[in-house]
Amino acid sequence: MRPSACLALFATTSSFVHAQSIESLITTAAQIAQAIKITLPNQSLVLVAQPYYWWQSGIVNNALFTYGFVTGDKQFEDLSKNTLYNQATAANDFMMPDATGNDDQAWWALSALTAAENGVAVPAGSPTFLSMAQNVFNEQKGRWDESTCGGGMKFKINAGDAGYDYKSSIANGLFFQLAARLAKITGDADTLSWAEKSYDWMTSTGLIDGEFNVYDGTDDSTECVDLNKNQWSYNVGAFLYGAAVMATQTGDAKWVDRTRGFLDAAQRNFVRDGALYEPICEGNGSCNNDQVSFKGILARWLGATAVVLPELKDTIAALMNGVSANVRSSWTPSLGPMQHFVALESVDAAVRANGGVAAAYGMIGGSKNVVKRSALKRSVAGRISW
Ligand SMILES: *[C@@H]1O[C@H](CO)[C@@H](O)[C@H](O)[C@H]1NC(C)=O
Ligand SMILES: *[C@@H]1O[C@H](CO)[C@@H](O)[C@H](O)[C@H]1NC(C)=O
Repeated sequence: MRPSACLALFATTSSFVHAQSIESLITTAAQIAQAIKITLPNQSLVLVAQPYYWWQSGIVNNALFTYGFVTGDKQFEDLSKNTLYNQATAANDFMMPDATGNDDQAWWALSALTAAENGVAVPAGSPTFLSMAQNVFNEQKGRWDESTCGGGMKFKINAGDAGYDYKSSIANGLFFQLAARLAKITGDADTLSWAEKSYDWMTSTGLIDGEFNVYDGTDDSTECVDLNKNQWSYNVGAFLYGAAVMATQTGDAKWVDRTRGFLDAAQRNFVRDGALYEPICEGNGSCNNDQVSFKGILARWLGATAVVLPELKDTIAALMNGVSANVRSSWTPSLGPMQHFVALESVDAAVRANGGVAAAYGMIGGSKNVVKRSALKRSVAGRISW
């Protein structure tokens, strides 16, 4: 090829370089998803090994669904789907013995809702994934507690449990996000009003402050006057994506502003040297079995936000390109399931923020990318083995 032709090729194919990078992210995502699968004690269920918790099985279940929707590789879809039915109980509300917190139950509801949003086929005679998420939402509405602090969700469900007197941001954030996403999928006005109401309660207590910092929770036995000011990455993630969904559903600029506020807060508080970072525990290596997974949840909802709010896409893409590069330089198959979870969500989020598989296949770039589509598709649709 003549040099001038070569230069011209480079000049017109910057999107090709970009697409290559998405393809390599997808290859990494496939490796991580496979590594997660291998850690599952029962290969037929997405239930992570102890010492990890049941709620974490819920987030891993959701991660395997998300991996399939982001990459087009659906090899884990039946596994995640069967696990939802396996864990739903006869009432189809995920009130398993380990569902002691409103958050525990809500993680599984969000996984079911993810299945519903992405049109996962429901086996004949089985309840829909949407109905499962609605069952949880309706139960949690009934637990909304006006007896103290002007409202809010308690952390724990049963009186007497440690944490029953605590109104936690994660219980409220997941309830808010569940309401927002259900309102979007159903168009139900009452559900939308619950999203507004639960958000307003968070700001009224100061658990969300004027800079969109999200604090951990507050003691309702003293009317929520004292805040536990610890900040964890998953709390801001829950409100970030819930707010983004509200922005798309209501068209109200206040929700775009709020989403932008949470994105700024996430970058300010949970990013260090281009990597996601959990400041309370990561510096001294004291993150416990719960805390190691929080960053992965933030990553998931950063990626999801980039998809629904195009005005934030470039900022999130820049962030997640750095984060995923960090993940890819340090990830190994021998890590534990929660490290895999964080890695997978981070890489998936980078794919989504860069336009997703559609961009890699040239569906966004137009006809000039057709050749690339066939070149790229093989490694995605095929099962990457190693
Ligand atoms: C694994 O889970 C499946 C599906 O619930 C169940 O039928 C099977 O007995 C489990 N296997 C073991 C070894 O527990
Ligand atoms: C780690 O650092 C955090 C925040 O600085 C501190 O609260 C915690 O006690 C430390 N833990 C250990 C085990 O040093």
